[in-house]
Amino acid sequence: MSDKKLVLLPGGAGYIGSHTAVVLLQAGYEVLVVDNFSNSSEISLQRIENITEKKCPYVRGDIRDRKLLLEIFQQYDIYAVMNFAGLKAVGESCKKPLSYYNCNVFGVINLLEVMQERNVKTFVFSSSATVYGDAPIPYTENTPTGIPISPYGRTKLHIEQILSDLYNSDNAWNIAILRYFNPISAIENGLLGENPQGIPNNLAPYIAKVAAGKLKELAVFGNDYPTVDGTGVRDYIHIMDLAEGHLRALNYLENNHPNFNIWNLGTGSGYSVLEIVRAFEKETGITIPYKITARRPGDLPEFYADPSKAERELNWKAKRDINAMMRDLWNFIKNNPNGYE
Ligand code: NAD
Ligand code: WQD
Repeated sequence: MSDKKLVLLPGGAGYIGSHTAVVLLQAGYEVLVVDNFSNSSEISLQRIENITEKKCPYVRGDIRDRKLLLEIFQQYDIYAVMNFAGLKAVGESCKKPLSYYNCNVFGVINLLEVMQERNVKTFVFSSSATVYGDAPIPYTENTPTGIPISPYGRTKLHIEQILSDLYNSDNAWNIAILRYFNPISAIENGLLGENPQGIPNNLAPYIAKVAAGKLKELAVFGNDYPTVDGTGVRDYIHIMDLAEGHLRALNYLENNHPNFNIWNLGTGSGYSVLEIVRAFEKETGITIPYKITARRPGDLPEFYADPSKAERELNWKAKRDINAMMRDLWNFIKNNPNGYE
């Protein structure tokens, strides 16, 4: 690219945003991160610069701060926005629904209002497979959305509906909604990864902490589901495949605007909890002690994506297999036993 295009990445210091920043920078875009660092560290931004040997400038701030956003749009010539900023802990969202609606829904409305005012209308949104509720599998983008089980999930559905209304009101908007399945693992060089604070809620980081000796054993939430071995089945996707999906979606918007589109980002294959444990053990040689416990309330037995729309339209397909996911997950944790500290 000759003319550098600047992509604003709210939440870009976090897990998915940091990996996507690397992919965008390597593809020749410029990026600007705005992050309140409520769930991340500036160290990830330094690492992005080390990996790409390019600048990853940032502004410390909140997407709910209208004045700050207006200043950013005034100061920089922003071409598109990919929003990763938001709260994402399902359990916490049941205890603090107002915080979740405030951050995830009001925050994005604020961002969209400023974009509208500044006439920047290309927007990529981090949605989630949770919007399908308990629909039949595999989920396609035409599967009707259900009622997500948690306030967190409902914030995603609300924003999807707001984006659809916005596009219908003014189809100069150019919008991609990406419904992520279960992103896991880390960039292959081990410099970026998922860095949850405290005890992880999600399977992959939990297994990694057990492997690192920081947690005693994995609790497997139920083994009486109607699945291959009774444990829950999910569509785990390597974070670098997911990040590359963002680049493809942006490229699609560039070539097909204006546009409103939804794509599943998943692999199309499901793995059970015990299959993941075994894959991790095989790839790392580390035994993961586990015990079977009660089901976790709100968990679905099994879901995975039909990713064919993204393959057809974005020319994107997840290419890293479960072994690579386990290897790169462990590589990050092994090299960063205390996260980014
Ligand atoms: P993350 O917590 O690692 O990253 C989110 C980033 O946003 C963090 O750096 C955090 O400090 C920042 N942030 C939070 N609220 C902010 C605010 N009000 N203003 C500015 N910055 C703020 O999470 P992630 O896993 O990278 O997820 C990114 C997005 O993808 C989220 O919207 C999440 O809901 C969505 N998503 C994640 C998953 C997943 O499994 N990780 C799955 C589906 C969708
Ligand atoms: C995966 C499987 C658990 C932990 C969540 C959000 C979803 C999306 C991705 C943001 C399930 C089992 C887990 C453990 C276990 N996030 N498990 N022991 O629940 O599919 O999705 O993250 O949008 O919205 O809900 O992912 O990794 O928590 O669970 O047995 O300690 O592992 O029951 O079957 P989930 P997960």
